Amino acid sequence: MPDVGIYVATVYGGALDVAEQIAPLFEAAGYGVEIHETPTLEKLVDPQPNLALFCISTTGRGDYPGNFTALSNALEQQRPSLEGLRYALIAMGDSSYEDSFCGAGRRLDELLTTLGGSRVGERLEVDASETPMADDAALPWAEQWLAAHS
Ligand SMILES: Cc1cc2nc3c(=O)[nH]c(=O)nc-3n(C[C@H](O)[C@H](O)[C@H](O)COP(=O)(O)O)c2cc1C
Repeated sequence: MPDVGIYVATVYGGALDVAEQIAPLFEAAGYGVEIHETPTLEKLVDPQPNLALFCISTTGRGDYPGNFTALSNALEQQRPSLEGLRYALIAMGDSSYEDSFCGAGRRLDELLTTLGGSRVGERLEVDASETPMADDAALPWAEQWLAAHS
C-alpha cells in the first residue's frame, strides 16, 4: 500500500483542518495516511513516504508557522538530499499580504525542489480573501490530484 505523509504548518488550525479533510480521500484511493502536526526532518526522510503532502499556511510576513520551524530549519541549515522525494503542496495565505502572499508555501516549494525533491502536480494556493473555507478549494484539488497521479 502506498503511503502519504501529510506535513502540516499552521497557526490557527486551518491547514490542519485541510489535512484532516483530505486524508479520507487518500485513504479511499488506497493510501495509508499519517498526519504530522509537528513535522521534523526524520519524519520526512526516515523512512521517506511514497508521497509527502504539505499543507502549509503563512504567518508574519511570509514566515513559516512555529510548529513547522523544526523541519524548515533542518532543511535550510542541513541541506539534506531529497532525491527521490515526491511531494505535493497546498499553500494557504491571504492576498491582502500582497508580496508575501503564500510566502511560506512558495519558499518551501522552491527549497524542496532545490534539495532534489520532485513536485507532483501543480501547487495549490488558497487565498483566504477569496475562499474563506479552504476546503472549498482543497478538496477539489485533491480529487483532481488523485485522478491524475494515482
Ligand atoms: C499574523 C498573521 C500574519 C499573516 N501573514 C501572512 C502572509 O505574510 N502571507 C499570507 O499569504 N498570509 C498571511 N496570513 C494569512 C494566513 O496565512 C491565512 O489566514 C491562513 O489561512 C491561516 O491558516 P492557519 O489557520 O493554518 O494558520 C497571516 C495571518 C495572520 C493572522
